[in-house]
Amino acid sequence: MNYKGKMLQDNALKGQTIVVTGGGSGLGKAMTRYFLELGANVAITSRNLEKLQGTAKELETETGGICLPLQCDVRHYDQVEAMLKNTLDKFGKVDGLLNNAAGNFISPTERLSANAFDTIIDIVLKGTKNCTLAFGKHWIDTKQEQSVILNIVTTYAWTGSAYVVPSATAKAGVLAMTRSLAVEWAKYGIRSNAIAPGPFPTKGAWDRLLPGDLKEKFDMSKKVPLQRVGDHQELANLAAYLISDFSAYVNGEVITIDGGEWLKGAGQFNLLDQIPEQMWDMLEQMIRAKKSK
Ligand code: COA
Repeated sequence: MNYKGKMLQDNALKGQTIVVTGGGSGLGKAMTRYFLELGANVAITSRNLEKLQGTAKELETETGGICLPLQCDVRHYDQVEAMLKNTLDKFGKVDGLLNNAAGNFISPTERLSANAFDTIIDIVLKGTKNCTLAFGKHWIDTKQEQSVILNIVTTYAWTGSAYVVPSATAKAGVLAMTRSLAVEWAKYGIRSNAIAPGPFPTKGAWDRLLPGDLKEKFDMSKKVPLQRVGDHQELANLAAYLISDFSAYVNGEVITIDGGEWLKGAGQFNLLDQIPEQMWDMLEQMIRAKKSK
């Protein structure tokens, strides 16, 4: 099965400018690479300019596209406004915003300081709000015909999750923002959608979320009905589709790409997949015997 293949036709994003927050590494970098391959200009942002410059250079060489590294802490609105201005100065316009920058601490909630909780809310919820508001105001003021916001959330945005409570709280807010603005800003030609990825291992997040031998102890692929983790290109394919004009009628949607992971945890009888085939024969006989009494 060729799930690592590239989905969209050549030049699907030709002439578009896209900003990817947190684009210097991990999943943000993977999505940026594919946008560049499809002909887009991409500005990548994070706090670490040196890392961004390295990534931009690497991706430009690899793809032949133009990648602009811009230092920006999304927690600060003035930095977001400056980032938008720098993007416009370089490319003349911007068409897409991918709110990908995130932070997460895995921890019992009572061990977190108030500042630690705030730090995650500020990056994920306030950072997404800052970028969305600045870009939205710009698109509305300049009467740009078409533009698109894509937010990276998580499946625990709607289920909640123990031990990542600030992240769950913030992502739930981002999902509400996605759906709200999909309706409110549609009249300005701004679409808003979200992706909820399941396990897509990256060095940075994975080492932080599951340090030491936790990675081996909690083999994420075992939690997934399809029994594997995601490949970065699968996520990049979906993101490129949602940014591209091919998804022009998709608005206010959250698309889960997790191999069925969250539903496996949700279904009341899902644990029964541990019952071997022979035991089903026995169980069926027992159930049928009860019925006939
Ligand atoms: N568990 C609990 N609290 C933690 C923590 C941890 N692992 N790491 C830091 N904190 C606390 C700090 O002690 C501090 O609180 P305090 O002032 O009350 O002591 C607060 O969180 C802020 O820490 P600080 O290091 O100043 O945060 P920062 O703003 O520099 O960076 C992150 C925060 C999340 C961005 C940073 O850890 C990071 O770069 N992470 C990598 C990105 C990431 O998390 N990606 C995952 C995406 S899913």
